Amino acid sequence: MGKVKSLEELMKIKEQVLKELQLRGETGKRGKITVAMGTCGIAAGAKETLKAIVEALSEYNVSDVSVVQSGCMGLCEVEPTVEVRLEGQEPIVYGRVTPENARRIVKMHILEGRVVEDMVIRRGEA
Ligand code: FES
Repeated sequence: MGKVKSLEELMKIKEQVLKELQLRGETGKRGKITVAMGTCGIAAGAKETLKAIVEALSEYNVSDVSVVQSGCMGLCEVEPTVEVRLEGQEPIVYGRVTPENARRIVKMHILEGRVVEDMVIRRGEA
């Protein structure tokens, strides 16, 4: 690589490196959001919740957090449920996650690093 001539060029290199890091897949991710898609979850609107999460992440350009589906978490009465796991933090399960609440979780928890206390159902490992 030749000498870096401008700030613009430096930014381009940085962008390139960041892209490559993201391509490492799961291991390069700093977190994972799991949406429970059991029968009760789906009946309670988990599909719309999942859609809202994916949309919010892309709106905020978050690409280092993956979104996956799971079976039932056994928490029917508070479906839809969503678990957020971020590197170095205890997992948090949120309940009654409407699409609107899903966007709150993405904004507060994923972007700002603050747990949405009023929606927490469970902390730590199950
Ligand atoms: S979501 Fe599985 S039994 Fe309710």
